[in-house]
Amino acid sequence: MSENDGLIIALSKGRIYKETLPLLRHAGIELVDDPDTSRKLILDTNDDTVKVLILRATDVPTYVQYGAADVGVAGKDVLMEHGGEGLYEPLDLKIACCKLMTAGRKGEQDVMPGRRLRVATKFVNSTRRFYASRGEQVEIIKLYGSMELAPLVGLADRIVDVVDTGNTLRANGLEPFEHIADISSRLIVNKAAMKMKHARVKALIDQISEAVVSALRTG
Ligand code: ATP
Ligand code: PRP
Repeated sequence: MSENDGLIIALSKGRIYKETLPLLRHAGIELVDDPDTSRKLILDTNDDTVKVLILRATDVPTYVQYGAADVGVAGKDVLMEHGGEGLYEPLDLKIACCKLMTAGRKGEQDVMPGRRLRVATKFVNSTRRFYASRGEQVEIIKLYGSMELAPLVGLADRIVDVVDTGNTLRANGLEPFEHIADISSRLIVNKAAMKMKHARVKALIDQISEAVVSALRTG
């Protein structure tokens, strides 16, 4: 690995891709392909030495950890779950902001003492840590999406999921209970790439950092 090897950036489709594009543009990187219309998973940019990988959100830290991508953008929720091994997390991009919360059916926050709660979530590690930190033993049910359904059909007493406007919870007769963490997306960097491609990665971090500050200033 050297400065001449080019740069590989890992992104996920959807909100992270959309919100990261203006930040990359500020760093002089424009995508040639659009992931919404192209089936390609390695996208070209205006710079021959920069490629963008389009991945599932939860896979971004793994690609960066193993050096298949040099840098990436991932939500703090995903990073907390992954554990952050092999990665630096130099920059809070202040995009895709939301909160990781527990939630349940409206008015059902109180539970009988001694009863073991069932909690449905895709954030198994964060959920285990949260309840353990409160000295509560819970049964965790791993789901891959549509967590809001679980309390409605008796699969679980609680869910742990990200909440932004609260509309999804409200639409399903649920309400947020405990706040676990504030979430935003982070720029992550492979540890070896930070050393071996230092000048290039540092320049990217600085340019994106400027873009974050100016986006915050202009609202
Ligand atoms: P996957 O497709 O792998 O299940 P996902 O559906 O969580 O991933 P996105 O919905 O694109 O992927 O979310 C990407 C990131 O955006 C999440 O990891 C989280 O940090 C943040 N996020 C998720 N939902 C919201 C929301 N409603 N408002 C703001 N940010 C959100
Ligand atoms: C996310 C999350 C919640 C919802 C919360 O889903 O899983 O369901 O956003 O946002 P709100 O508080 O503003 O309603 P998303 O919209 O990403 O759909 P997904 O199920 O495809 O992840």
